[in-house]
Amino acid sequence: MKFIDLFAGLGGFHQGLVNAGGFECVFASEIDESLREIYANNHGLSPHGDITKVHESSVPEHDVLCAGFPCQPFSLAGSKKGAKCPESGKLINDIIRIAEYRRPNFLMLENVPNVLTIENGSFWHYIKSSFEGLGYKIIHKVISPDEVGIPQNRKRLFIVGSLDHQLLDCFEWPLQKKEKTLEAVIEKKIKRNHKRLEDGKRLQLEHWQRLLIDCGLKTMPPISLCAPEFGATYPLDFHNLRVKDMQNYKGAYGKSLKDCKSWSEVMMLMPSYVQKNKAAPEWMLESVEYSRSFYRKHKRFLNSWHKNLQKENNSWQILEWRGHRDYLNFDRHLIQFRASGIRIIRAVRAPSLISMTPTQIPIVGSQMRYLSKHEAAKLQNLHKLKSIPKNDTRAFKAFGNAVNAKVVELIAKKLIKLQG
Ligand SMILES: C[S@@+](CC[C@H](N)C(=O)[O-])C[C@H]1O[C@@H](n2cnc3c(N)ncnc32)[C@H](O)[C@@H]1O
Repeated sequence: MKFIDLFAGLGGFHQGLVNAGGFECVFASEIDESLREIYANNHGLSPHGDITKVHESSVPEHDVLCAGFPCQPFSLAGSKKGAKCPESGKLINDIIRIAEYRRPNFLMLENVPNVLTIENGSFWHYIKSSFEGLGYKIIHKVISPDEVGIPQNRKRLFIVGSLDHQLLDCFEWPLQKKEKTLEAVIEKKIKRNHKRLEDGKRLQLEHWQRLLIDCGLKTMPPISLCAPEFGATYPLDFHNLRVKDMQNYKGAYGKSLKDCKSWSEVMMLMPSYVQKNKAAPEWMLESVEYSRSFYRKHKRFLNSWHKNLQKENNSWQILEWRGHRDYLNFDRHLIQFRASGIRIIRAVRAPSLISMTPTQIPIVGSQMRYLSKHEAAKLQNLHKLKSIPKNDTRAFKAFGNAVNAKVVELIAKKLIKLQG
């Protein structure tokens, strides 16, 4: 079957269909020049540029239209076509006009799941009804690679359409229980090209590790330890209090508020997360209370431990434990320095690779280094590509944008099965 690859990026659709066998790419489009070059190197086909500038009659005939249209927030007011819709949201219209002109038998689209819910579902209604208006039957499912054997948590909306409604009635979404472990993806030994963790971050992690081990903990629930709460007694919501009332309490790390004469003096001694509303945020309350009771149990140890904790960076003072309940060593974990805290995750599945923030590239706890480009490629089943962006940030951005080639491959195999 002939296919086209719109918004081609690294070519996750291309790779997936080629892996499935029996597919030939006849057209691709990608606006980013460097990605176009990489695509041509990898797939032997030079993509066209901006799809909005390509007339539908120059797109060759094809059987499958593939598109992972850009997923920046878009908005579509009511059912008014294109209204209040920034450029990225309007790109769905280019897919629709090509489908209308060429009428391929199959559509395979991918995007983030909230396409289903944004604007109270009106964007999704617009997509579905537009294709239905052209005679397509549309089905969709949210699938994550870890449901098809790839250890990455990455829920994405897959949309399959066909002009042959009866055929699509027999379509079964792929499911493959046997999962490759993350161990199979992570390179066992540190290599020269691996990016090691910066000293500051490594020292902070070692310090947190000391806390978990030296406190003699046997288990740790999935909760955050907020170090500023160690010794704090201030009321968790103090927006109604006066400075005078606050003088009876202790702020971050047990600092006395007794001598504070103004709110600015009080706030200097308070945790960063209460600064905005003079209250701990609702979503942190459980962790804040847990941290205080944790302090009461381990007071002597924590009083000296916190002195060596680096306190310049607010988010580094919070440990978001999403790790093993009864194995507290970071070596069987992945670590992410997030805006909300240092997140420790069980090294079972990788978190979703995202394109926007290279700062969240997972750290391999056993080797205190960042996940490599090659490992990221494996998590997207794109490791067979000969060429990927040289620059780390660009590479992770492209992998974070890409469709998972394994999910595409398995859907494509189901389409082949339908065709008989
Ligand atoms: C979500 S990514 C899709 C990635 C692709 N499916 C893959 O597997 O790598 C969207 C891509 O659309 C490209 N793009 C954005 N606007 C475009 C346009 N007007 N014409 C062609 N490509 C465009 C972006 O540069 C980006 O690479």
